[in-house]
Amino acid sequence: MPDTPRSHGRKTIRPTLTPRSLMDGGEELAGVWQARVVTLFPDAFPGVLGQSLTGRALQEGKWQLHTHDLRDFGIGRHRNVDDTPAGGGAGMVLRADVVGPALQAAQSNARGRWPVLYMSPRGRRFDQSMAGDLARCDGVTVLCGRFEGVDERVLEHFDVTEVSLGDFVMTGGELAAQAMLDATVRLLPGVLGNAESTVDESHSNGLLEHPQYTKPASWEGRDIPPVLLSGNHAEIEKWRRNQSESLTKVRRPDLWAKKRNNPGK
Ligand SMILES: C[S@@+](CC[C@H](N)C(=O)[O-])C[C@H]1O[C@@H](n2cnc3c(N)ncnc32)[C@H](O)[C@@H]1O
Repeated sequence: MPDTPRSHGRKTIRPTLTPRSLMDGGEELAGVWQARVVTLFPDAFPGVLGQSLTGRALQEGKWQLHTHDLRDFGIGRHRNVDDTPAGGGAGMVLRADVVGPALQAAQSNARGRWPVLYMSPRGRRFDQSMAGDLARCDGVTVLCGRFEGVDERVLEHFDVTEVSLGDFVMTGGELAAQAMLDATVRLLPGVLGNAESTVDESHSNGLLEHPQYTKPASWEGRDIPPVLLSGNHAEIEKWRRNQSESLTKVRRPDLWAKKRNNPGK
């Protein structure tokens, strides 16, 4: 089969381009935002990041993704990466002398502002402002934990920032890393088709987004609010703002209180 793009309606498909080949192997593109992920499960990447907008942006070189396999840095014949916790207790801990060299490799050639993050339920809760801040960096190195986590010394040594997806515990950091990268990559210049799309959405202005509707005008006895079909843009804008504010007040009083204290945001 020829390796030339073929048009399938609205999509262009390269028959040999699998999600993984969107990642490693390619050269580093100068000045392009990069994510370097240190993980025991490199095959989990790009995962969902290889689809839709983030996948297309990866394919178009608007960002780059590299994985660093922790197993490559494992100790001995069996390439062990973990050991029992000092002081006893359940489970295993990723060794500093495995994670350290892996982070060192990931950080080689890191340029400009390039934080090292560890996905961790102990970390600062990830939010939209963090996504915006990461998108303004030159790149990011993300460590995905497994088992009981990572030897603390390596976190101190690399001045790692711990980032949590929320107050729950997953088995590993890979899904958390993908969620964080997805929210970040869509804020990179040129990734979203319409630059306006991030302006009004939930959390961009401290409010939750207003309800959205599309065709048909009536469904199961429920109609689209008439103002949205009126063509009166000022009224539509007012309705959306009111909806946004009421939803935020009811669902997220914490956000509403913050907005009231900082209305300019
Ligand atoms: C089973 S968890 C370890 C939990 C750790 N023993 C603790 O109590 O904080 C294994 C890995 O999953 C990832 N992880 C779990 N929950 C997470 C969350 N809410 N946010 C980000 N990463 C998480 C982290 O990378 C963590 O090292």
